[in-house]
Amino acid sequence: MKILVTGGTGYIGSHTCVQLIDKGWQPVILDSLVNSKVSVIDRIESITGHRPPFIQGDVRDADLLGKLLLEHGIEAVIHFAGLKAVGESVAQPLRYYDNNVHGSVVLMQVMQQCGVKTMVFSSSATVYGHSSAPPWNEQVPTSPANPYGRSKLMVDHIMADVAAADATCAMTSLRYFNPVGAHPSGQMGEDPQGVPNNLMPYLSQVAVGRREALQIYGKDYNTPDGTGVRDYIHVNDLAKGHVAALAYSHERPGHHVFNLGSGIGHSVLDMLHAFGKACGRDLPYNFAPRRSGDLDAYWADPQHALNTLGWQVEKTIDDMCQDTWRWQSQNPNGYP
Ligand code: NAD
Ligand code: WQD
Repeated sequence: MKILVTGGTGYIGSHTCVQLIDKGWQPVILDSLVNSKVSVIDRIESITGHRPPFIQGDVRDADLLGKLLLEHGIEAVIHFAGLKAVGESVAQPLRYYDNNVHGSVVLMQVMQQCGVKTMVFSSSATVYGHSSAPPWNEQVPTSPANPYGRSKLMVDHIMADVAAADATCAMTSLRYFNPVGAHPSGQMGEDPQGVPNNLMPYLSQVAVGRREALQIYGKDYNTPDGTGVRDYIHVNDLAKGHVAALAYSHERPGHHVFNLGSGIGHSVLDMLHAFGKACGRDLPYNFAPRRSGDLDAYWADPQHALNTLGWQVEKTIDDMCQDTWRWQSQNPNGYP
């Protein structure tokens, strides 16, 4: 199967391309490089022995998309391309809605024109409301707290409407919890620009000496050790979830929603200690005030993905930290 992977040089997209190639499928990558580097393609080739076609361009460019779908004989799309910084989305909402929502609408329009019926989309656990006790299944009421989360939920709704209007379309939203980790080869991983917003990339930059100490946001949450609890999922498990979701949905029209998580919550201190074990030293940290908008604790109920896709996570937080450390120590400044 030939698959267009938008955002395929990004963190999750690149790991998914490796899994698609392993499965014998052929990814074709479209990425604007707004948040990734083209050298990722070399790494995909080095790991798999196969160099996927790469087109630099924007998902909002309908002419380019149309040509691409037809010239490459694309049969399905995995749509990762989007902006993902929550704080930035609060400051620049129109940029987020234009990129994430308008970009997805253009993509679905062109898919319709070209007769491409299958799409798997990067949604997020951030679409769920904040009032439900964990674990969160797919029926938890949605009520995202920021423009980024709302942009994801809007696309989920649009996909459901498209699938309802055309009974031959298969539209699948995957709601990721907290993706972390790196390819076990150490050749691919997360490479944020500037100061990382998220826990794992920040921790790994402390470990490699690029940052002084981790600031732990809050020590009085209603959790066993007082620090925030999340469901961390290894990016390779997440990538395999895309392969499973695509294999399933390509045969089954409709709108499908799956949570992709481990079903287990870990605290910030759990992650700090696991990372210390992986890199062989205790990492410096300070307690800082809570970060605005953060919740105490949530994790996935991943039963629907297990029962329907036969997918579940295989990797532990020790695997996540060891693989992140291998990537970060071999590539202290990220991709060239
Ligand atoms: P990433 O920034 O590494 O990858 C996204 C890629 O999309 C980048 O390579 C970027 O250059 C590209 N891109 C952005 N806008 C584009 C456009 N208009 N046209 C073409 N390319 C464009 O992010 P990621 O962590 O790999 O996330 C992938 C997707 O998963 C995103 O949609 C994100 O919102 C979603 N998601 C991420 C997380 C997470 O914690 N990483 C969690 C839930 C959902
Ligand atoms: C995890 C825990 C922090 C950094 C974000 C997005 C969400 C989704 C996944 C895309 C929390 C604590 C963090 C630091 C810390 N992305 N922390 N010091 O906030 O759960 O989710 O990524 O869809 O939309 O909001 O992830 O990694 O930022 O935080 O103490 O320097 O680590 O308070 O408890 P989060 P995170």
